[in-house]
Amino acid sequence: MPMPMPMPVPVPPLPCLLLLLFVAPLLATPTTIPLYRHLPPLPPAAAQHHPLSRLAQASLARASRLRAGHGHHQGQASASASSPVRAALYPHSYGGYAFSLSLGTPPQPLPVLLDTGSHLTWVPCTSNYQCQNCSLAAAGSFPVFHPKSSSSSLVVSCSSPSCLWIHSRSHLSDCARSSAPCRPSTANCSATAKNVCPPYLVVYGSGSTAGLLVSDTLRMSPRGAARRNFAVGCSLASVHQPPSGLAGFGRGAPSVPAQLGVTKFSYCLLSRRFDDDAAVSGELVLGASSAAGKMQYAPLLKNAGARPPYSVYYYLSLTGIAVGGKSVALPARAFAPVSGGGGGGAIIDSGTTFSYLDPTVFKPVAAAMVGAVGGRYNRSKAVEEALGLRPCFALPQGAKTMDLPELSLRFTGGAEMRLPIENYFLAAGPASGEAPEAICLAVVSDVSSASGGAGVSGGGGPAIILGSFQQQNYQVEYDLEKNRLGFRPQPCSSSSS
Ligand SMILES: *[C@@H]1O[C@H](CO)[C@@H](O)[C@H](O)[C@H]1NC(C)=O
Ligand SMILES: *[C@@H]1O[C@H](CO)[C@@H](O)[C@H](O)[C@H]1NC(C)=O
Ligand SMILES: *[C@@H]1O[C@H](CO)[C@@H](O)[C@H](O)[C@H]1NC(C)=O
Repeated sequence: MPMPMPMPVPVPPLPCLLLLLFVAPLLATPTTIPLYRHLPPLPPAAAQHHPLSRLAQASLARASRLRAGHGHHQGQASASASSPVRAALYPHSYGGYAFSLSLGTPPQPLPVLLDTGSHLTWVPCTSNYQCQNCSLAAAGSFPVFHPKSSSSSLVVSCSSPSCLWIHSRSHLSDCARSSAPCRPSTANCSATAKNVCPPYLVVYGSGSTAGLLVSDTLRMSPRGAARRNFAVGCSLASVHQPPSGLAGFGRGAPSVPAQLGVTKFSYCLLSRRFDDDAAVSGELVLGASSAAGKMQYAPLLKNAGARPPYSVYYYLSLTGIAVGGKSVALPARAFAPVSGGGGGGAIIDSGTTFSYLDPTVFKPVAAAMVGAVGGRYNRSKAVEEALGLRPCFALPQGAKTMDLPELSLRFTGGAEMRLPIENYFLAAGPASGEAPEAICLAVVSDVSSASGGAGVSGGGGPAIILGSFQQQNYQVEYDLEKNRLGFRPQPCSSSSS
């Protein structure tokens, strides 16, 4: 079902005058960082556009998609946990974390992005797969799934319950009651056949993917345990997608954890400075991870009664955001979704790169950041414009360190995520490949409407999306049985050795 395609909004830079408004207020908890050691280096110059600006735009586009909703239905999971399944998780310069799963008989290994913000899994499919304006990283060299080469592959029929994940019952009124799944590309099994579940179209913030729902045997690793009849999208055409497929880990029946009957999963996201490095990885664990350790836990909320897409998201029980140890005054909608309407609240999403704060949250947080920096550093307008990120502070000449305010997220029950500095500031130059000249808050917003019409933009989606950049080097556990999120800082690269 086509949805309006929200476009990324260009963000006009805040006047550097802001800087002059703050006269050296004292810092509550300054954090000192050795600049060139910890901040992630720039990814290799790949495109004309600044790669970080591309990531910022992609984060923003994704935010508008998550906020606008993309319409799928929810079901319930069956539960039976066995031993945990582990997969290596790699960061990529196009902005996501990917792991490999295998589909079919014999197994065909396929990279997929880990996405906790959606629930339908899809893969590039057949040698006819078309990907328009798909990334940089040679799309052609990525593997596609060949259902014809899999003896266990079936096209999902229109009478299958999984067809109702993507189509409403009324759309399926033509469906023949007796319809059964059919083998791909047999005479009675085409996209137009009456027995076949009609094609899906998923529209993202800046692109889309379309294809047919198939079911096949899934393995989380080529020799791992087999889950038969896993329903997965066989995408035949995509626009502006990463070169791999996508694994849906959000709430709801189509999601990987629900289809596998897993009620707990966790991941450790490697630092972005290892983008596209095949030698190091973080880890995705399905099932209980062995080292429970000292995790902090915070309740996960559901957006009950909301329009379907919002029921897919994992809402956090956020109680506050602190800058430099001081709580920032935020509107109530930052903390919990408004019941029934789907607006507001904070979600955690592995598929968003830079966290998104809607203007009602971003403005006070950015102002608090500028205030806490207190004019000790100049704003860098050139870098702000090039990246679409703000505020950016110019690196002082010859300085080896900068004193920057701490940023932390506080949750119901007292859990606090005190982010490491490299999880919310990044160093960048005004153009791709140039030496860093400034550090920027790695958070996006859509502060485009010139007036301070706070709250008006509030409508549909979450007010806050906690993205993967902010989750680097954290072990993050989604405990769906106890409905809670666990986290602890941890070097993720160690888990790969
Ligand atoms: C692909 O990118 C080109 C150049 O940016 C643009 O003109 C074209 O409309 C894009 N195609 C699609 C299908 O988005
Ligand atoms: C498709 O055709 C095959 C062989 O002709 C037959 O066995 C099967 O039942 C048909 N399937 C459907 C859904 O009609
Ligand atoms: C800020 O900019 C002014 C004017 O370019 C310069 O003289 C000063 O050294 C800069 N301050 C810092 C902290 O970079």
